[in-house]
Parts: sequence; structure tokens; C-alpha cells
Amino acid sequence: MTDASKSDANAMWGGRFAEGPDAIMSAINASISFDQRLYAQDIAGSRAHAAMLAATGILTPSDAEAIGKGLLTVLSEIESGKFVFSAALEDIHLNVESRLTEIIGEPGKRLHTGRSRNDQVAVDFRLWVRGQCDAAISGLTALMRAFVAQAEAGADWVMPGFTHLQVAQPVTWGHHMMAYVEMFARDRARFEDARRRMNECPLGAAALAGTSFPLDREMTARALGFDRPTANSLDSVSDRDFALEFLSASSICAMHLSRFAEELVIWSSAQFRFVRLSDKWTTGSSIMPQKKNPDAAELLRAKLGRILGATVALFTVMKGLPLTYSKDMQEDKEQVFDAADTLMLGLAAMTGMVGDLNANREVLKAAAASGFSTATDLADWLVQRLGLPFRQAHHVTGTLVAMAEARGCDLPDLSLAEMNSVHGGITQEVYSVLGVENSVRSRVSYGGTAPDQVRAQISRWQLALA
Ligand code: ARG
Repeated sequence: MTDASKSDANAMWGGRFAEGPDAIMSAINASISFDQRLYAQDIAGSRAHAAMLAATGILTPSDAEAIGKGLLTVLSEIESGKFVFSAALEDIHLNVESRLTEIIGEPGKRLHTGRSRNDQVAVDFRLWVRGQCDAAISGLTALMRAFVAQAEAGADWVMPGFTHLQVAQPVTWGHHMMAYVEMFARDRARFEDARRRMNECPLGAAALAGTSFPLDREMTARALGFDRPTANSLDSVSDRDFALEFLSASSICAMHLSRFAEELVIWSSAQFRFVRLSDKWTTGSSIMPQKKNPDAAELLRAKLGRILGATVALFTVMKGLPLTYSKDMQEDKEQVFDAADTLMLGLAAMTGMVGDLNANREVLKAAAASGFSTATDLADWLVQRLGLPFRQAHHVTGTLVAMAEARGCDLPDLSLAEMNSVHGGITQEVYSVLGVENSVRSRVSYGGTAPDQVRAQISRWQLALA
């Protein structure tokens, strides 16, 4: 809850101000309605700062101890819902500090020594985004495991592979599932990489120039789990690359989610029937009793809109900002909060849906054989067995496809006499490559769809994800 009437921010920074802010100024200026989400990071940062101020002799041990204890009291007030957030106190930093001073008195006023809200918000937000990188990494790991389990169950099930959403060549279900494992593995690596880069501590940069107090920035960095302090104070308070990298990685990941979501929408339709979505991830229609709508998949298809929107919004905020901190940057948080919530929910929903997904093996197989999907196998056979140049083999095969199409049958239904009318050298043996099972078995190149290749990839990932 927010109480605008509570003590004014002027108490924190208003020494030179004769008048309080206009009510509308308070409304546009205050961020407490959303940045209260940073309370745990703000308190952790302040506790690390206070301990360091004591260790360096800037604060007395007793002041630092009072601050450390008082901050834990504030933490428990917030977590138990007792804390009254004040819009007049603008943001989480001033709310926490003001309450601390109410509780412990004088020593509370010493906490902000050698620090500014500029480095304070930078450290709070970094800590929060770092936590979200960890959440994305574990969410993606769970999702990859779900895809690997699907792949293992149907490593050799044949299905049509598509290009242009036209039947292209038979592939295996396992191969298709493992394609998503590769995609989500790249996403996971992007979050890991971004996390590594953002893991430097801006605390101690103060307002922008550093400080005359003999801070131990290594100490606060270590206490907060950072690899090291940031090396340039101006950059420290003006940088939001870590948030942009998180949003960019989130956007690519959400794009991947949307692609599989779209496949689920198509595959679960009455026209395809490749998969059955569990009741847990679908809804009915209030008027059409037969309907089972793939709502979760549709929503996942749409969620990229929000996440990419947040990404564009923050790029637009940051573009052209001169060094160092500008209040524009307060607009970073809501975008990142919403994008992160959306991504984590999306990852959890997709993991559940993939886990509960039932592929229809018979339908997949029948569809794999349709659309002349083994035409390439026929052309390859003409090259390998009859020594035809590939272009000529392509032409002969095209003629046979046209013949089958005219007859309304599939390639294996053409008689040998019909085949020979197009090319005299074709023998009975050709029929062995026209079957979809043989077709997929023949794709043995590394990373190909042959079940042995797919199983090798499944084992590799099972090991990596164990
Ligand atoms: N609420 C501010 C933000 O989110 C904190 C930093 C404000 N610094 C300042 N000097 N006004 O960016």
C-alpha cells in the first residue's frame, strides 16, 4: 500500500527547497509503486555498504551494527506486509532509508555516506536482473529436459519435414524435438553470457565521480556476489546494458517459444491431428461443444509482443542519453519487470505443455508419406545407382511426380513400367528408397535425421542436462 501523505522527500534531499513538489510532479516522479519490487536487493546493498563503512573505519562499529539490524527489521516489515510505502518518499531507496531512521534514529542518517541513489539503484537493479537471468537459465533447463524426453520417446517416429510449410522430406519426431533443444540451449547460453558480463558491482561509484571516502569496493562487490567492482564510475551509474542484454536474450527466447507455440496450434488442428494437447493446456468454447482450443499455445505465440515491446521501449529510453545518470533511466524498471514475469510464465507454461504433449504416431507416419516426400530419395538413387547427373535426376523425378499427381497416387504406387517410360534404367530396387522409414534411416550425415544420429544427440544432451 502507498501513503502519499506520509513524511516528505524534502526531509531526504530538500535542504535548499522552500516549497514541496506539485501533486502532479509527485505523481510523475515517484517510482515506489513499482520499484518496491527491489526491496530485498536494496536492503542487501545497504547492508553490504554499512558493513564496509564499518570495516574501513568510516562508521563506528556500533552505528553499523544498528544499521544492519535496523535494515533486517525493515525487511521483515516489508515481507510481512506491515510496511507503509510512501509516494512522497519517491522510491524504494528513500522509503527504506527513512523507515530505518525512524526505527534506529541518528545512525540511520549515516548510512548514505559515500553513496548516491545513482549507484544504489544501479546495484539494486543489477542484482534483480542477475536473479532473473538465473531464473531464465533454470526455466530453460527444465524446458530442454521436456523436449529431450519427447525426443527420446519418438526418436525414430517418422513425420513430414516442412519447408515453406509444404511437405519437404520425411524427418523424425525426435529430430524435430531436438531442434528446439538447440534453440533453447542458445537462449540459455545468452543468459549465462549476459549474467557473466553484468556481474560487476557499481556500488561505490557514488553520484558519478566516485567519492573521497576510503571505500573498499572489493569488499562490497564480494559481499553481494559480484566478480569485481566496476572500473569507471561514470559508466557505472549510466549503464543499463545489463537490462538491455536481458531483454534482448528474452526477446529471442520468446521468439523461439512463439515458433513452437505456432507449431502446436497447427499440429493440434483437426486438419493436422499430429498432436493431442492435454486438457490441462486447452479450453472449451461456450457455444461450440466440440471445441478444444489451444489457448496456452496461442498466448505463448503472442507473448513476444510484450517482451519485444519492452526491449524497444528501453532502447528508446537509453538512446541519445548523455553521460551519466538521467531520470529517464527510471523508466527502465517496469519494462524489465513485465518482460521477466512474462518470460518466466511462458517458460513454465511451455515446459508443462511439452511434458503433457501426445504425438499421434500413426497420423505422423501417414502424413510423412504424403506430398511426394521421398522425391529427393528417388533423385539421389538415380544419381547413386544410375550415375545420372543430379540435375537430370531432378528432372526425371519431377516427371515421375507429375505422373503420380495426374494419377492421384503416391510415388511408390507407380508401376515399374510407368517408371521405365520416363527412364529405362530404373529397376525394382528403387522402391526400397521410396519408403519413409528407409528415407529417414539414410540421412546419416552428422546432425541429420537418421534415428542413430538423433539418438546420439539425445544422449549428448541427456548427459549435459543431468
Ligand atoms: N528512483 C530512481 C531510479 O529509479 C533512483 C535514482 C534517482 N537518483 C536521483 N539522483 N534522483 O532511477
